[in-house]
Amino acid sequence: MTKNTRKEAPALPLNTIMSGDCIEAMNSLPEESVDLIFADPPYNLQLRGDLHRPDNSKVDAVDDDWDQFDSFRIYDDFTREWLKAARRILKPNGAIWVIGSYHNVFRLGAELQNQGYWLLNDVVWRKSNPMPNFRGKRFTNAHETLIWASKGEGAKYTFNYDALKALNEGVQMRSDWVLPICNGGERLKDEDGEKAHPTQKPQSLLHRLLVATTNPGDVVLDPFFGTGTTGAVAKMLGRDFIGIEREEKYRKVAEKRIKAIRKFDSEALTVTASKRAEPRVPFGQLVERGMLRPGEQLMSMNGRHKAKVRADGTLIGNDIKGSIHQVGAHLEGAPSCNGWTYWTYQREGKNVPIDLLRQQIRAEMN
Ligand SMILES: C[S@@+](CC[C@H](N)C(=O)[O-])C[C@H]1O[C@@H](n2cnc3c(N)ncnc32)[C@H](O)[C@@H]1O
Repeated sequence: MTKNTRKEAPALPLNTIMSGDCIEAMNSLPEESVDLIFADPPYNLQLRGDLHRPDNSKVDAVDDDWDQFDSFRIYDDFTREWLKAARRILKPNGAIWVIGSYHNVFRLGAELQNQGYWLLNDVVWRKSNPMPNFRGKRFTNAHETLIWASKGEGAKYTFNYDALKALNEGVQMRSDWVLPICNGGERLKDEDGEKAHPTQKPQSLLHRLLVATTNPGDVVLDPFFGTGTTGAVAKMLGRDFIGIEREEKYRKVAEKRIKAIRKFDSEALTVTASKRAEPRVPFGQLVERGMLRPGEQLMSMNGRHKAKVRADGTLIGNDIKGSIHQVGAHLEGAPSCNGWTYWTYQREGKNVPIDLLRQQIRAEMN
């Protein structure tokens, strides 16, 4: 009898957080096994000294060890290695998102192109509530840039164009996304009430990009997992995730966070796939159908504002009445607001986006 020497591919550690360095961890995974990578790598901020607000309080800046690199060359070497490891595990039609600030995003973009990734878009995440520039010596740094790339030119990457158009009330989704930074109830705190992580990303950002570029059941890997925002949203949306994080304290926070997350029911996870425009669902229909009760309180996705649902499908806030969009825009002091992605309701102690109720109605209509 001949001995079977064929090596079995290692199983994917789905829905777990791998510990240690992301390059080693990715190198231990089977090649071409992952549908999407979302990477929020160290920014290499190169901060010089403390930063203070006008009242002299110290700004909680990103000065952690994991963000320190001695030179651009060392940062570039690191970028090259992790992007290479990421490329090996991506399926041929897989894609990658990287996010960064002006400190690092150009270096990330150049290396993506050097390695043969094919840039599809850069997306500007415009922060609706950025930190002011305390010294008044530069523009307020109010955005971060995301780069979306396929594995190579001509690859058949996933893009749920119609789902995104539906998410944006029938209007094509643009490459500038206005979303608040993570704060309020969403911001995870440690035992001392301090931020559990300095750069926790908002769930709304991950919600949008996962709905846009993955399907339920896809495998999403995040090599810089932090507090596990990618894992939390992937779980809600019925995607499998693999996280990699080298700091134990962040892994613990992420594990606890993800354990408490409830997956949305499968019907609500179906997103628009047809070329047809999605039927319009007035918010009032959610009230008529008893999905939300008059008097029920909605909470903004950023946890900062509340408003009550009225029987006619309008909302009433402290000093404002109107549609979900009008009240959201007023409370944020913004020219417009997509109320569907702005508001959440509470079920079993969790904040659930109201847009899921709309998707549920649309799924019944199809
Ligand atoms: C910008 S933060 C990511 C934050 C995350 N997106 C969130 O929402 O919480 C980068 C994370 O990468 C981790 N990290 C840095 N270098 C790493 C490496 N070589 N391997 C694994 N994790 C690393 C850091 O500990 C940090 O938590």
